Amino acid sequence: MQDLDRLIAEALAVFERIEDPAQLEQAKARYLGKSGALTDLLKGLGKLPAEERPAAGSRINQAKQQLEDALARRREAIQGKKMEVRLAEEALDVSLPGRGLGVGGLHPVTRTLERIESLFRSIGFDVASGPEIETDFYNFTALNIPEDHPARAMHDTFYVEGGALLRTHTSPVQVHYMQKHQPPLKIIAPGRVYRCDSDVTHTPMFHQVEGLWVDENVTLATLKGVLGDFMQRFFERENLPVRFRPSFFPFTEPSAEMDIGCVICGGSGCRVCSHTGWLEVLGCGMVHPNVLKHVNIDSEKYLGFAFGLGVERMAMLRYGVNDIRLFFENDLRFLKQFN
Ligand code: PHE
Repeated sequence: MQDLDRLIAEALAVFERIEDPAQLEQAKARYLGKSGALTDLLKGLGKLPAEERPAAGSRINQAKQQLEDALARRREAIQGKKMEVRLAEEALDVSLPGRGLGVGGLHPVTRTLERIESLFRSIGFDVASGPEIETDFYNFTALNIPEDHPARAMHDTFYVEGGALLRTHTSPVQVHYMQKHQPPLKIIAPGRVYRCDSDVTHTPMFHQVEGLWVDENVTLATLKGVLGDFMQRFFERENLPVRFRPSFFPFTEPSAEMDIGCVICGGSGCRVCSHTGWLEVLGCGMVHPNVLKHVNIDSEKYLGFAFGLGVERMAMLRYGVNDIRLFFENDLRFLKQFN
């Protein structure tokens, strides 16, 4: 019994030094286990005189309880320390500013397309579309470009297996639309076109917007008025000079190329306008009677004008971009400037 106090003191000291839960359980076995020190003492009770046994037994049981309590506290302390360490390791600074949302934007070509569309819609044009994979008939023949016509060579056509081709311009949409609709008709047809061509101002795929207005008294004057107004509104220049130069397209007669005063230098001459003060922006003309005949529209009764403009070219001029390939490289540093 004299050993009991010493034993308790020793056990308490041992528990207090332990930092690891498994070691703590081993220590518990050493004092309280089946062959532990305290259990040995209980077993020795029988050797005591009968009158001393109850007091000694209850003292040993008290000691057991005392050690159990100490163990429980120690377990809790070890858990608590572990939690503290974890909390310190995983600490978050909730006062740090957030990263913010990355806001995307429309691609400059899309923005330009939408701008062109809304300007033409505002003066009553509908928006039509046609397939990008075309037949020879729609891309050429119905547009008055017969086989062996030299104009075919200018188109650098991509052919698809089986004789189909990737449309080289949006003009075939004129044919599709006029096959299904009778005049009066007034449409634009935006879309992708393909030519085997690639340099600073050409990419194998680019966008055009086709325009077509057929009615009883649509004249060259209508064409000049509509396209002149459109350019002024697109570039937001009220007195933007425009001029029409005679040109040739098999599907229009007469045909013209439209120039605007250089929007980069204001007409004084720069690299973009090759020091001419003028920029070529589109091809146009009065719809050729042969095209109307192909789609059974009476060319005696109806007149129409058509035009085709390059969307990337319009975007380059509006935003001052000097290499068309930038539009298709998807470099975010470039694209972000249009957000
Ligand atoms: N399709 C012609 C081109 O791609 C442009 C054009 C369209 C010219 C309509 C006249 C009329 O070059």
